[in-house]
Amino acid sequence: MRITGMTRVTGVFGWPVGHSRSPVFQNAAFRSLGLDFIYVPFAVRPEHLATAVSGIRALGLAGVNLTIPHKESVAALLDEVDEEAAQVGSVNTVWNADGKLCGTTTDGRGFVRSLREDGGFDVCGKTVLVLGAGGAARSICGALIRAGAGRLFVWNRTAARAECLVEHLRSVLGCSDARCVDGARLHDAAFMKDLDLVVNATSVGMREGDAAFLRGELLHPDLFVYDIVYSRTTALLEAARRAGCRWLDGSSMLVYQGAISFEIWTGRAAPIDVMKRALAGAADLERGG
Ligand code: ATR
Repeated sequence: MRITGMTRVTGVFGWPVGHSRSPVFQNAAFRSLGLDFIYVPFAVRPEHLATAVSGIRALGLAGVNLTIPHKESVAALLDEVDEEAAQVGSVNTVWNADGKLCGTTTDGRGFVRSLREDGGFDVCGKTVLVLGAGGAARSICGALIRAGAGRLFVWNRTAARAECLVEHLRSVLGCSDARCVDGARLHDAAFMKDLDLVVNATSVGMREGDAAFLRGELLHPDLFVYDIVYSRTTALLEAARRAGCRWLDGSSMLVYQGAISFEIWTGRAAPIDVMKRALAGAADLERGG
């Protein structure tokens, strides 16, 4: 990689940032298209976020991604935030338009695009159960509604948080077909039979030994199961595979949310296969393969 005075700099602000897999696949994508761009991880402490954001302007960075813990707090520091990011309350992508800093979120769109392109699944009119009510669930529910999902059910361990998310989906996104469900519904065969898509948007499954929320015998071959965990094959996905469901894990969403950021910064279509191969190669190296 040759860095010159013309090289455009992008990157990711996070704390910690060492775990981020974005540098691997973004740099591979720039290289494969011969673009004079580079993607750098920046470890930005929460108390330094405002200074770091000013640095995007001062240093003339082309743009950055934001990851934990900055996605919610960065909006107030930008010149403009688009409607989707404002509604979701999260920004993961900033671009520098001649000193004007604009923000959006690509998480939800990345999720829907990965479902369509990698899963061959169109969410329009479908009945969906989302597990979780945190930031990831909020982005995913917003994107599902924008993409025309039919009925949307939300379950969360802490019921009050699910109620809060559903209220937001109804009042801000105008989705009258969003409802909370309690834990008993997850064991209700008739309810499960009606679902087209289940999304695990919680962190459950990240650790070895985490149990699946759903009973394997209630999964059926017409169901698509999406688990946003990307670091390992979760118990939920193993059960989905055994039940003959179509399924995807979070590495697909990770690539597509990054691909949309790439397209915003470069104006070029992202080389999805290159990004996937780079991500898979990095995961193999981590496993010592
Ligand atoms: P993110 O922004 O990545 O979504 P988050 O806001 O911390 O992270 O949300 C994590 C989600 O995982 C929440 O829905 C959380 O449930 P609670 O709202 O009840 O905390 C869910 N979660 C985490 N650990 C869980 C567990 N052991 N069982 C069930 N849900 C869990």
